Amino acid sequence: MRQPVRKSAVGKLKDKVAIVTGAGGDIGRAISLQFAAEGAAVVCADVDLNTARQTTEQIEKQGGKAAHVECDVTDSNAAKESVSEALRRFGALHILVNNAAHFLRDATLPELDEAEFNRAFAVNVTGAFLMSRWAIPHMVRAGGGSIIHIASQMAHVAREKQATYCATKGAVLLLAKGMALDHAADGIRVNSLSPGGNATQGMAKPVGGTWKQAETGVGAAKATPLVVSAELRKMPMQQCS
Ligand SMILES: NC(=O)c1ccc[n+]([C@@H]2O[C@H](COP(=O)([O-])OP(=O)(O)OC[C@H]3O[C@@H](n4cnc5c(N)ncnc54)[C@H](O)[C@@H]3O)[C@@H](O)[C@H]2O)c1
Repeated sequence: MRQPVRKSAVGKLKDKVAIVTGAGGDIGRAISLQFAAEGAAVVCADVDLNTARQTTEQIEKQGGKAAHVECDVTDSNAAKESVSEALRRFGALHILVNNAAHFLRDATLPELDEAEFNRAFAVNVTGAFLMSRWAIPHMVRAGGGSIIHIASQMAHVAREKQATYCATKGAVLLLAKGMALDHAADGIRVNSLSPGGNATQGMAKPVGGTWKQAETGVGAAKATPLVVSAELRKMPMQQCS
Protein backbone atom coordinates (compact mmCIF):
# COMPACT_ATOMS: atom_id res chain seq x y z
CA MET A 1 0.00 0.00 0.00
CA ARG A 2 1.37 3.42 -0.91
CA GLN A 3 1.54 5.86 1.94
CA PRO A 4 1.45 9.43 0.72
CA VAL A 5 1.90 11.92 3.52
CA ARG A 6 -0.13 15.05 3.09
CA LYS A 7 1.96 18.02 4.12
CA SER A 8 0.32 20.12 6.76
CA ALA A 9 1.09 23.68 7.52
CA VAL A 10 -1.46 23.61 10.30
CA GLY A 11 0.29 21.42 12.85
CA LYS A 12 -3.02 20.18 14.24
CA LEU A 13 -1.21 17.85 16.63
CA LYS A 14 1.60 20.17 17.69
CA ASP A 15 2.92 19.25 21.15
CA LYS A 16 0.71 16.15 21.32
CA VAL A 17 2.03 12.69 22.13
CA ALA A 18 0.44 9.66 20.49
CA ILE A 19 0.80 5.90 20.73
CA VAL A 20 -0.12 3.94 17.62
CA THR A 21 -0.34 0.16 17.99
CA GLY A 22 0.39 -1.97 14.96
CA ALA A 23 2.49 0.99 13.79
CA GLY A 24 4.70 -1.29 11.72
CA GLY A 25 1.75 -2.34 9.57
CA ASP A 26 0.46 -0.47 6.56
CA ILE A 27 -2.43 1.52 8.02
CA GLY A 28 -0.60 1.98 11.34
CA ARG A 29 2.40 3.39 9.51
CA ALA A 30 0.25 5.74 7.45
CA ILE A 31 -1.45 7.00 10.64
CA SER A 32 1.89 7.43 12.41
CA LEU A 33 3.44 9.34 9.51
CA GLN A 34 0.44 11.63 9.20
CA PHE A 35 0.30 12.28 12.95
CA ALA A 36 3.99 13.15 12.92
CA ALA A 37 3.47 15.42 9.90
CA GLU A 38 0.83 17.22 11.98
CA GLY A 39 3.38 17.77 14.75
CA ALA A 40 2.75 14.86 17.15
CA ALA A 41 5.52 12.82 18.76
CA VAL A 42 4.60 9.21 18.00
CA VAL A 43 5.37 6.05 19.94
CA CYS A 44 5.27 3.31 17.32
CA ALA A 45 4.23 0.10 19.10
CA ASP A 46 4.17 -3.24 17.35
CA VAL A 47 4.70 -6.90 18.17
CA ASP A 48 7.20 -6.76 15.29
CA LEU A 49 9.97 -4.46 16.54
CA ASN A 50 11.66 -4.23 13.13
CA THR A 51 8.67 -2.79 11.34
CA ALA A 52 7.97 -0.44 14.26
CA ARG A 53 11.59 0.75 13.98
CA GLN A 54 11.15 1.33 10.24
CA THR A 55 8.16 3.58 10.93
CA THR A 56 10.16 5.54 13.50
CA GLU A 57 13.02 5.93 11.03
CA GLN A 58 10.63 7.16 8.33
CA ILE A 59 9.15 9.74 10.71
CA GLU A 60 12.60 10.94 11.78
CA LYS A 61 13.68 11.18 8.15
CA GLN A 62 10.77 13.57 7.62
CA GLY A 63 11.93 15.64 10.57
CA GLY A 64 9.35 14.30 13.02
CA LYS A 65 9.66 12.91 16.53
CA ALA A 66 9.14 9.20 17.22
CA ALA A 67 10.16 6.23 19.34
CA HIS A 68 9.51 2.55 18.80
CA VAL A 69 8.64 -0.15 21.25
CA GLU A 70 8.09 -3.88 21.02
CA CYS A 71 4.58 -4.48 22.29
CA ASP A 72 2.28 -7.44 22.07
CA VAL A 73 -0.99 -5.74 22.94
CA THR A 74 -2.33 -8.97 24.47
CA ASP A 75 0.33 -8.72 27.18
CA SER A 76 -0.74 -6.34 29.96
CA ASN A 77 2.84 -5.59 31.04
CA ALA A 78 3.88 -4.77 27.48
CA ALA A 79 0.86 -2.49 27.07
CA LYS A 80 1.72 -0.72 30.32
CA GLU A 81 5.34 -0.40 29.23
CA SER A 82 4.33 1.28 25.94
CA VAL A 83 2.41 3.90 27.89
CA SER A 84 5.41 4.37 30.20
CA GLU A 85 7.66 4.80 27.17
CA ALA A 86 5.48 7.66 25.90
CA LEU A 87 5.77 9.39 29.28
CA ARG A 88 9.51 8.72 29.58
CA ARG A 89 10.39 9.87 26.08
CA PHE A 90 7.90 12.67 25.50
CA GLY A 91 6.51 13.53 28.94
CA ALA A 92 2.80 12.99 28.29
CA LEU A 93 0.18 10.96 26.48
CA HIS A 94 -2.70 12.60 24.64
CA ILE A 95 -3.72 10.16 21.90
CA LEU A 96 -3.99 6.38 21.65
CA VAL A 97 -4.76 4.63 18.37
CA ASN A 98 -5.71 0.99 18.83
CA ASN A 99 -4.86 -0.19 15.34
CA ALA A 100 -3.08 -3.57 15.85
CA ALA A 101 -5.10 -6.47 14.55
CA HIS A 102 -5.06 -10.17 13.97
CA PHE A 103 -6.55 -11.27 10.65
CA LEU A 104 -8.07 -14.68 10.05
CA ARG A 105 -8.11 -17.01 7.11
CA ASP A 106 -11.54 -17.54 5.53
CA ALA A 107 -13.23 -20.22 7.62
CA THR A 108 -16.63 -21.14 8.98
CA LEU A 109 -16.75 -21.64 12.76
CA PRO A 110 -16.36 -25.45 12.67
CA GLU A 111 -13.30 -24.98 10.44
CA LEU A 112 -11.65 -22.64 12.93
CA ASP A 113 -9.83 -23.94 15.97
CA GLU A 114 -10.19 -22.36 19.39
CA ALA A 115 -6.67 -20.96 19.39
CA GLU A 116 -7.34 -18.98 16.20
CA PHE A 117 -10.66 -17.68 17.56
CA ASN A 118 -9.12 -16.72 20.89
CA ARG A 119 -6.10 -15.03 19.30
CA ALA A 120 -8.35 -12.81 17.18
CA PHE A 121 -10.29 -11.67 20.26
CA ALA A 122 -7.09 -11.33 22.29
CA VAL A 123 -5.43 -8.96 19.81
CA ASN A 124 -8.44 -7.10 18.42
CA VAL A 125 -10.49 -6.68 21.60
CA THR A 126 -8.43 -7.48 24.72
CA GLY A 127 -5.51 -5.56 23.19
CA ALA A 128 -7.67 -2.44 22.80
CA PHE A 129 -8.86 -2.88 26.39
CA LEU A 130 -5.36 -3.28 27.84
CA MET A 131 -3.87 -0.32 25.99
CA SER A 132 -6.83 1.87 26.96
CA ARG A 133 -6.74 0.66 30.55
CA TRP A 134 -3.17 1.85 31.02
CA ALA A 135 -3.53 5.01 28.95
CA ILE A 136 -6.74 6.45 30.44
CA PRO A 137 -5.46 7.37 33.94
CA HIS A 138 -2.68 9.48 32.36
CA MET A 139 -5.15 11.19 30.03
CA VAL A 140 -7.45 11.90 32.99
CA ARG A 141 -4.54 13.46 34.86
CA ALA A 142 -3.65 15.54 31.80
CA GLY A 143 -7.24 16.84 31.62
CA GLY A 144 -8.28 14.84 28.55
CA GLY A 145 -7.24 12.97 25.44
CA SER A 146 -8.41 11.03 22.44
CA ILE A 147 -8.69 7.29 21.88
CA ILE A 148 -9.30 5.99 18.38
CA HIS A 149 -10.16 2.36 17.81
CA ILE A 150 -9.70 1.06 14.29
CA ALA A 151 -12.76 -1.08 13.64
CA SER A 152 -13.83 -2.09 10.13
CA GLN A 153 -16.75 -2.09 7.75
CA MET A 154 -16.93 -5.69 8.89
CA ALA A 155 -18.12 -4.35 12.25
CA HIS A 156 -21.29 -3.25 10.44
CA VAL A 157 -21.84 -5.80 7.68
CA ALA A 158 -20.80 -9.45 7.78
CA ARG A 159 -18.55 -11.05 5.24
CA GLU A 160 -18.75 -14.76 4.42
CA LYS A 161 -16.32 -16.98 6.36
CA GLN A 162 -15.18 -14.04 8.49
CA ALA A 163 -17.70 -14.30 11.33
CA THR A 164 -15.00 -14.24 14.00
CA TYR A 165 -13.15 -11.22 12.60
CA CYS A 166 -16.53 -9.46 12.15
CA ALA A 167 -17.40 -10.26 15.78
CA THR A 168 -14.12 -8.82 17.05
CA LYS A 169 -14.70 -5.61 15.12
CA GLY A 170 -18.33 -5.41 16.26
CA ALA A 171 -17.03 -5.67 19.82
CA VAL A 172 -14.57 -2.84 19.15
CA LEU A 173 -17.39 -0.65 17.89
CA LEU A 174 -19.42 -1.02 21.10
CA LEU A 175 -16.30 -0.84 23.26
CA ALA A 176 -15.72 2.61 21.76
CA LYS A 177 -19.30 3.72 22.35
CA GLY A 178 -19.29 2.54 25.97
CA MET A 179 -15.91 4.10 26.67
CA ALA A 180 -17.05 7.38 25.11
CA LEU A 181 -19.93 7.52 27.59
CA ASP A 182 -17.75 6.59 30.54
CA HIS A 183 -14.96 9.09 29.86
CA ALA A 184 -16.68 12.10 28.30
CA ALA A 185 -16.64 13.81 31.70
CA ASP A 186 -12.87 13.23 31.87
CA GLY A 187 -12.41 15.14 28.61
CA ILE A 188 -11.48 11.96 26.75
CA ARG A 189 -13.01 11.54 23.31
CA VAL A 190 -13.38 7.93 22.20
CA ASN A 191 -14.17 7.12 18.58
CA SER A 192 -13.96 4.19 16.23
CA LEU A 193 -13.12 4.32 12.55
CA SER A 194 -14.37 1.73 10.08
CA PRO A 195 -12.13 1.59 7.02
CA GLY A 196 -13.11 -0.16 3.82
CA GLY A 197 -10.82 -2.57 2.00
CA ASN A 198 -7.17 -1.55 1.73
CA ALA A 199 -4.52 -3.61 0.00
CA THR A 200 -2.29 -4.10 3.05
CA GLN A 201 -0.06 -6.88 4.36
CA GLY A 202 -2.81 -7.96 6.74
CA MET A 203 -5.30 -8.01 3.90
CA ALA A 204 -3.04 -10.20 1.75
CA LYS A 205 -2.24 -12.74 4.49
CA PRO A 206 -5.50 -14.68 4.30
CA VAL A 207 -4.90 -15.25 0.58
CA GLY A 208 -1.49 -16.76 1.21
CA GLY A 209 1.15 -14.10 0.78
CA THR A 210 2.15 -10.55 1.36
CA TRP A 211 0.93 -7.56 -0.59
CA LYS A 212 4.49 -6.43 -1.26
CA GLN A 213 5.30 -9.87 -2.67
CA ALA A 214 2.16 -9.66 -4.75
CA GLU A 215 3.14 -6.19 -6.01
CA THR A 216 6.66 -7.24 -6.94
CA GLY A 217 5.67 -10.67 -8.21
CA VAL A 218 8.17 -12.38 -5.87
CA GLY A 219 6.82 -15.69 -4.58
CA ALA A 220 3.37 -15.94 -3.01
CA ALA A 221 1.74 -17.11 -6.21
CA LYS A 222 -1.68 -17.05 -4.58
CA ALA A 223 -1.50 -13.41 -3.59
CA THR A 224 -1.43 -11.87 -7.04
CA PRO A 225 -2.87 -8.37 -7.39
CA LEU A 226 -5.85 -9.95 -9.16
CA VAL A 227 -6.53 -12.28 -6.25
CA VAL A 228 -6.13 -9.45 -3.77
CA SER A 229 -8.47 -7.19 -5.72
CA ALA A 230 -10.98 -10.06 -5.84
CA GLU A 231 -10.64 -10.19 -2.04
CA LEU A 232 -11.26 -6.46 -1.81
CA ARG A 233 -14.46 -6.87 -3.85
CA LYS A 234 -15.76 -9.29 -1.20
CA MET A 235 -15.68 -6.50 1.35
CA PRO A 236 -19.01 -5.44 2.81
CA MET A 237 -20.49 -2.57 0.78
CA GLN A 238 -17.71 -3.38 -1.75
CA GLN A 239 -15.94 -0.24 -0.73
CA CYS A 240 -12.22 0.22 -1.12
CA SER A 241 -10.39 3.10 0.40
N1 LIG B 1 -6.66 -3.56 5.35
C1 LIG B 1 -7.97 -3.49 5.34
O1 LIG B 1 -8.63 -3.74 4.33
C2 LIG B 1 -8.70 -3.09 6.59
C3 LIG B 1 -10.08 -2.82 6.51
C4 LIG B 1 -10.77 -2.46 7.66
C5 LIG B 1 -10.10 -2.36 8.86
N2 LIG B 1 -8.77 -2.65 8.92
C6 LIG B 1 -8.12 -2.53 10.22
O2 LIG B 1 -7.03 -1.63 10.10
C7 LIG B 1 -6.03 -1.96 11.06
C8 LIG B 1 -4.68 -2.09 10.40
O3 LIG B 1 -4.73 -3.16 9.47
P1 LIG B 1 -3.69 -3.31 8.26
O4 LIG B 1 -4.52 -3.69 7.09
O5 LIG B 1 -2.78 -2.13 8.18
O6 LIG B 1 -2.91 -4.62 8.70
P2 LIG B 1 -1.35 -4.93 8.82
O7 LIG B 1 -1.25 -6.41 8.94
O8 LIG B 1 -0.59 -4.25 7.74
O9 LIG B 1 -0.99 -4.27 10.21
C9 LIG B 1 -1.35 -4.83 11.43
C10 LIG B 1 -0.19 -4.61 12.38
O10 LIG B 1 -0.57 -5.09 13.66
C11 LIG B 1 0.56 -5.73 14.23
N3 LIG B 1 0.12 -6.69 15.23
C12 LIG B 1 -0.48 -7.89 15.07
N4 LIG B 1 -0.67 -8.49 16.23
C13 LIG B 1 -0.18 -7.64 17.19
C14 LIG B 1 -0.10 -7.70 18.59
N5 LIG B 1 -0.52 -8.77 19.26
N6 LIG B 1 0.44 -6.65 19.24
C15 LIG B 1 0.89 -5.57 18.57
N7 LIG B 1 0.86 -5.47 17.23
C16 LIG B 1 0.32 -6.50 16.55
C17 LIG B 1 1.24 -6.43 13.05
O11 LIG B 1 2.59 -6.75 13.36
C18 LIG B 1 1.08 -5.37 11.98
O12 LIG B 1 2.19 -4.50 11.98
C19 LIG B 1 -6.52 -3.23 11.73
O13 LIG B 1 -7.19 -2.91 12.93
C20 LIG B 1 -7.51 -3.80 10.74
O14 LIG B 1 -8.45 -4.66 11.35
C21 LIG B 1 -8.05 -3.00 7.82
